Amino acid sequence: MAAYSILSAVLCLEIIVRGMTLPANGLSMNYYMMSCPFAEMTVKNTVSRALQNDPTLAAGLIRMHFHDCFIQGCDASVLTDSTKDNTAEKDSPANLSLRGYEIIDDAKQQLENQCPGVVSCADILAMAARDAVFFVRINLFQAGGPVYDIPKGRKDGRRSRIEDTINLPAPTLNSSELIRMFGQHGFTAQEMVALSGAHTLGVARCSSFKNRLSNFDATHDVDPSIDTQFGRTLSKTCKAGDNAEQPFDATRNTFDNDYYNALQRKAGVLFSDQTLFAGANTRGIVNGYAMNQAMFFFDFQQAMWKMGLLDVKEGSKGEVRGNCRKIN
Ligand code: HEM
Ligand SMILES: *[C@@H]1O[C@H](CO)[C@@H](O)[C@H](O)[C@H]1NC(C)=O
Ligand SMILES: *[C@@H]1O[C@H](CO)[C@@H](O)[C@H](O)[C@H]1NC(C)=O
Repeated sequence: MAAYSILSAVLCLEIIVRGMTLPANGLSMNYYMMSCPFAEMTVKNTVSRALQNDPTLAAGLIRMHFHDCFIQGCDASVLTDSTKDNTAEKDSPANLSLRGYEIIDDAKQQLENQCPGVVSCADILAMAARDAVFFVRINLFQAGGPVYDIPKGRKDGRRSRIEDTINLPAPTLNSSELIRMFGQHGFTAQEMVALSGAHTLGVARCSSFKNRLSNFDATHDVDPSIDTQFGRTLSKTCKAGDNAEQPFDATRNTFDNDYYNALQRKAGVLFSDQTLFAGANTRGIVNGYAMNQAMFFFDFQQAMWKMGLLDVKEGSKGEVRGNCRKIN
């Protein structure tokens, strides 16, 4: 059994490494092999333990990695706390519901004990997001999802400013705006739709979608792309206030393709979700993932890998923080 899982892990790795281009910027799969051999295992165990206590944190970690990578590259800028002289990304309204900082702190502390000053916060976050996807897939397939390796060697950035969060996509964007925005980061429309599938996990708060329900009894002026019954569900959620949470799909802690099925029923929570089914250039992709979960998983994994390489900093362009919340 053990031999089989190792073999299948190796095979998976082979396929994925061949399918993807390794970045030319000093990252490598075995970056910590000599300098901190238990780095991967330490992060994996920390994430596993945290998710056993609270599976909803998987969504937090994946979203945090996304926000990190879309602002100034994957450089842990999302993790730094504001200081007297600087308001960090974290304190932007876009920070709504970013969760899981403690998991990163916990892993970082253990790694500082094992190998001080070696493992970057950006790599810890990238590994933790990868592991979070793995562990929530276990829920689905008792046997566990594919094991895959990611390149490591990201350095932590020295800048984190609230104004940079303007580069995050707003939930009011339509399909063509989303294609353009993700295109600026080098993603195809298909990769954008696959990445949006992260919304198979977690929740949105009323404040992120209430503009779609201009009348809370859902009888007038409702966004026409919402199913009537689902519009009532959203309105009901909002009765409990701006912070009331609405799961994106029926299975908020399971990584599956239910999100795309919901879009087909016009039961997408955010405007930016439902627009993927409304847009002529994305609807076919939504239908494809709704029909074929394996294809979604494969594309999601590849797109996450690519996202994890956005504008990574190497060498003297970054540092390895001692504490993920503070620039050295
Ligand atoms: C396509 C553009 C995207 C938009 C406009 C968007 C917007 C949002 C918004 C508004 C929320 C809810 C925040 C709240 O109300 O608390 C949310 C939640 C979330 N987003 Fe996205 N997002 C996008 C893409 C992504 C991507 C690419 C990922 C990761 C790969 C991601 C992962 C998540 C997760 C996991 C949650 C749930 C968080 C939780 O339950 O703690 N999103 N997103
Ligand atoms: C950002 O997230 C942190 C951690 O969840 C929270 O303590 C803080 O209040 C949030 N800031 C805003 C502006 O929402
Ligand atoms: C999307 O929004 C942009 C900017 O508001 C607008 O110009 C465009 O027509 C919209 N596209 C669709 C398909 O609605």
